[in-house]
Amino acid sequence: MQTALRLEPVTRDNVWAACQLTVRPGQDDVVAPVSWSLAQAYTMPDVAWPRLIYDADQLVGFIMAAFAPDHESALYHSFLWRLNVGAEHQGKGYGRFAVEALCEEALRRDQPRLVVSYHQHGPEGFYRRLGFRVTGEHIFDEIVAERILCSGPAAGQAGQESRRRAASVPPSLA
Ligand SMILES: CC(C)(COP(=O)(O)OP(=O)(O)OC[C@H]1O[C@@H](n2cnc3c(N)ncnc32)[C@H](O)[C@@H]1OP(=O)(O)O)[C@@H](O)C(=O)NCCC(=O)NCCS
Repeated sequence: MQTALRLEPVTRDNVWAACQLTVRPGQDDVVAPVSWSLAQAYTMPDVAWPRLIYDADQLVGFIMAAFAPDHESALYHSFLWRLNVGAEHQGKGYGRFAVEALCEEALRRDQPRLVVSYHQHGPEGFYRRLGFRVTGEHIFDEIVAERILCSGPAAGQAGQESRRRAASVPPSLA
C-alpha cells in the first residue's frame, strides 16, 4: 500500500510535472529550477539522489541530495543539495517531511550528518527548526549548516574533516 506522504524517484511519467514545479515569486534566486537540478543529476548519476515529494497523487515538491562519500570535501559526503516546495504547497509540512526522509536515507548510507548550504536570504529559520546548526563555513557566498544524525566519533570526524577542507571546496556542486 502506498503511503500518502512519500518520496518517489523521477521517472519518464512524472518528469514533465516535476519540471512544472515552481516556487513563490521572489524565491527563484535562492534555489535552482527543478529542470536544472535534474540536468545536473543526469550528469552525476553516482552522486545525485533526486526525489519527488508526493502527498497521495499530488506532486508537491522536489528534493535532491548529493551522496559523494569519496569526495575530497566532506561537505559533499551527505549534502542536501536542492529543496523546492511548490508555491501553493508551502507551509504545510512538506519541506519538513522531505528533510526528515533525507536524513533517514543518509543514515541508511551510514552518514553521521547531513549538510546544507543556503543563500544569505535563504530559509535559515526553516533549517534551524529542523535541527541544523551553522558551522561557520561558507561555500562561495552560501552559509553552511549541518544536522548531526548520530553521535560518536564518526560525527566528530566528519565535522573536523569538513572544516579542514572548507577553504578548498571545488565548484562541482554549486
Ligand atoms: C523553505 C521551504 C523548503 C520550506 O518548506 P515548507 O514545506 O514550506 O516548510 P514546512 O511547512 O515543512 O515548515 C516546517 C517548519 O519550518 C518553518 N518554516 C518554514 N519556512 C520557514 C522560513 N522561511 N523561515 C522560518 N521558518 C520557516 C515552518 O513554520 C514550520 O515550523 P513549525 O515546526 O513550527 O511548524 C519552502 O518554503 C521552499 O521551497 N522555499 C523556496 C525554495 C527554498 O528556499 N529552498 C531551499 C533552498 S536552500
